[in-house]
Amino acid sequence: MTENARTAPGAVRTVACVGAGVIGGGWVAHFLGRGYRVVAWDPAPDAGSRLRGLVASAWPALESLGLAEGASTANLRVADTLADAVSEADFVQESAPERLDLKIGLLAEIDAATPEGVVIASSTSGYSMSEMQVGARTPGRLVVGHPFNPPYLVPLVEVVGGARSERWAVDWASDFYRAAGKSVITMEQELPGFIGNRIQEAAWREALHMVAEEEATVEQIDLAMTSGPGLRWAFFGPCLTFHLAGGEGGMAHMLDHFGPSLKSPWTRLEAPELTAELRDRMVAGTDEVVAGRSTAELIAQRDRRLIAVARALEEVEREEAAERAGGQA
Ligand SMILES: NC(=O)c1ccc[n+]([C@@H]2O[C@H](COP(=O)([O-])OP(=O)(O)OC[C@H]3O[C@@H](n4cnc5c(N)ncnc54)[C@H](O)[C@@H]3O)[C@@H](O)[C@H]2O)c1
Repeated sequence: MTENARTAPGAVRTVACVGAGVIGGGWVAHFLGRGYRVVAWDPAPDAGSRLRGLVASAWPALESLGLAEGASTANLRVADTLADAVSEADFVQESAPERLDLKIGLLAEIDAATPEGVVIASSTSGYSMSEMQVGARTPGRLVVGHPFNPPYLVPLVEVVGGARSERWAVDWASDFYRAAGKSVITMEQELPGFIGNRIQEAAWREALHMVAEEEATVEQIDLAMTSGPGLRWAFFGPCLTFHLAGGEGGMAHMLDHFGPSLKSPWTRLEAPELTAELRDRMVAGTDEVVAGRSTAELIAQRDRRLIAVARALEEVEREEAAERAGGQA
């Protein structure tokens, strides 16, 4: 396999999205909003209408954030076959169900049908590309491009290759996602859960333990995060946040001061047993927090809030840039 001779990352026109559920549909909305032509394929009989519904519900959010020139829902084509979907693609994003046998077979099929040199990325959250690329004829162009939900509003994509992926494909995918408006982490090694989900999983396990032990309710856990650490994590992350917890002494003082308490039993981290009782308690507690809102209502509320946070951060960053420019003048 040679380097992608067809298209430079910044010159991509057509993206194929294979699998168009929650994440695939979110990718379709993102790429359409960025002005790409998108060809989607999904074997479900109602996939086309479901996908158009998902794009229609995401579109107001994308419009309010600002569409790329030429962006239109009319640039979506739903193909009847996988081979048709990928035949004219400059890039392929696979977002099929999270089953290893399915991913291995599907990625081999996509690889066989996609023009030579075109990069193929999988949205998988749980499998490594090393496990998934074993059936492909040209595995060098297969990489993971792991998004966060919804891909049209949460910018992060974690890019990583497998044992048989080639460097150029990892770099090409990273450059393409950047050109498509994403915030990209190119990982140098495969890591179960990648980065974002490993951090999220630690908090999730502790939340489940606290509910299982009746130490906290679902409502208290969500409020603790949204009114507390979650607010800071939208812009500084856990490390810079703790740097400030060390005052003028910064991270060094913070570690010297609070280091010994790392050993105190604040967290359990081992996953709790997901008993029927814990499952039911989580579901009942979540129902209370949801308080009758439909999933569509919740998605609309989430999207408005994500946009509000993104806008507020953009404004602060613009002000800071203007202040810096003023200071240099
Ligand atoms: N849901 C999330 O928050 C999230 C986040 C990041 C990554 N992911 C990953 O994205 C992928 C898709 O997850 P999802 O949540 O969108 O699932 P989903 O069930 O919502 O969608 C899967 C879609 O794939 C279709 N499909 C079934 N068989 C297929 C096949 N053989 N080929 C192509 N499509 C097929 C289904 O009809 C469905 O529309 C998974 O690998 C998952 O790990 C999910």
